[in-house]
Amino acid sequence: MWIHLVLIVVSLAIYWLRNRYSYWQKRGVPFLQAYFPFGNLQGVFGQHLSVLAQRSYQQLKSPGRKLGGIYFFINPVAIALDLEFVKDVFIRDFQYFHDRGLYYNEKDDPLTAHLLTLEGNKWKALRNKLTPTFTSGKMKMMFPVIKAVAERFQQSLGAVVATGQDIEIKDFLARYTTDVIGTCAFGLECNSLADPKAKFREMGRLIFRQSPILLMKILFGLMFRDLARRMHMRVFRKDVSDFFMKAVRDTVEHREKNKVVRNDFMDLLIKLKNAEPVEEENTNQLGQLTFNEIAAQAFVFFVAGFETSSTVMTFCLYELARNQELQDKARQNVLDTVKQHGSITYEAIYDMKYVENCINETLRMCPPIVNIFRSVSNNYKVPETEIVLEKGCRVMVPVYAIHHDAEYFPDPETYNPDRFNPDQVAQRHHMAFIPFGDGPRSCIGLRFGMLQTRLGIAHLLQKFRIKLAPRTIVPLTIDPANLIISPKGGMWLQFEKL
Ligand code: HEM
Ligand SMILES: *[C@@H]1O[C@H](CO)[C@@H](O)[C@H](O)[C@H]1NC(C)=O
Repeated sequence: MWIHLVLIVVSLAIYWLRNRYSYWQKRGVPFLQAYFPFGNLQGVFGQHLSVLAQRSYQQLKSPGRKLGGIYFFINPVAIALDLEFVKDVFIRDFQYFHDRGLYYNEKDDPLTAHLLTLEGNKWKALRNKLTPTFTSGKMKMMFPVIKAVAERFQQSLGAVVATGQDIEIKDFLARYTTDVIGTCAFGLECNSLADPKAKFREMGRLIFRQSPILLMKILFGLMFRDLARRMHMRVFRKDVSDFFMKAVRDTVEHREKNKVVRNDFMDLLIKLKNAEPVEEENTNQLGQLTFNEIAAQAFVFFVAGFETSSTVMTFCLYELARNQELQDKARQNVLDTVKQHGSITYEAIYDMKYVENCINETLRMCPPIVNIFRSVSNNYKVPETEIVLEKGCRVMVPVYAIHHDAEYFPDPETYNPDRFNPDQVAQRHHMAFIPFGDGPRSCIGLRFGMLQTRLGIAHLLQKFRIKLAPRTIVPLTIDPANLIISPKGGMWLQFEKL
């Protein structure tokens, strides 16, 4: 008797899965054959999502084809294959693609409800309110504070270099960016540079250390959002959430009590909490932000801001250590500019064109965010095709795969900063280089991220020669368990004081 029941259940499950895995076929979208349970994410535990997405991209890409269909586990995802289509998604048809469809859960895990995850009008109102924090005027105002951290960074590295040891630079750089963001977002002297165990760094490390679980949770939340909410799933560990909540509460109380004004991110967030008008503006849909809401924004600035930039710096130093001629050229660029401006000023930083090229070439080869997601908010007919993407469908822009496509970047595995000389940039499609996404939902922290990256690299090149250490692993392997692209086993380099 029960055996019949089992057979029926199994048959139904197989029928349902077959049906599920023919989603793209039925809609006339070129697709890849997928199997239960991983779909086209086969190997997700052994390979990084950058490479998995690249595999699908290469298999599906064909002239004139805008998109293809793949499956994440049992869920259909449309993968962008054409740069004009990428432009439709990011910019031209933005009204269909303003959401990411990532998991957030305001009730059980208030820190997940931030700019990166929020949707629709709520996102839009918040983005309008936060945008003034990231203008070049604000960057200029924050510059002295960031520069002070960069100088301290230069000194504390010098002290370690004097001991003659190899240095695991990824952790060192993460301490630098943690201090920068901690200072600008929380108004704290985190001082993880002086004390590697400082609490903020410790917490930052914890967020990304539980990576395999974090990765699974984020994928699960992306694919089964309602179920995850009903299960009260938390993305971040409770101790981490509690720490950040308390840090924000202490900062807010301190500032309100002592009337401290520092022109940083936290200032603006406090203004939003008290709903004072922030500069001139007319959107009033948002109303006052609650304490939880401002804590979540401060948190996302921290999470989005430190690991991405420190990763870029890590890979940039690795490439410059491997290519001493390029390193000499970059250092000359720093020294010449400093001579011209007297010191590393805000203007000097923007004049270091070759350093910028080196950073951009690193962002091309190792974009920290390897795939960008959008969720379709209304049925969308793909231009010049009969394909309709249904409401709720996920679209993935495979940033890493595009950046490594020989059609746009000949000899894509070679590090060559000259690709970012103006004449070469002019010849390329705008959407071929998208480390920060594009359009109204692109990275709000682009200027800030580039600024702290340039400052960090400039201060290092100015004072040190960088070399590979005997234990540097060449070629690099990407750690599959890390959400953000990062070298497996850390990055060991040697520094020589100049
Ligand atoms: C090198 C450094 C960085 C890289 C490569 C990077 C990359 C990205 C990417 C690819 C996105 C998604 C864009 C899209 O969907 O089109 C994003 C969004 C975002 N980033 Fe960054 N980011 C960096 C630094 C920062 C910093 C320093 C901050 C904050 C201080 C920040 C805050 C954010 C936020 C809040 C969003 C969500 C914006 C929204 O949905 O409106 N990022 N970033
Ligand atoms: C380098 O990348 C940044 C961020 O994407 C961009 O704003 C800048 O124009 C790029 N520079 C060059 C020379 O392409």
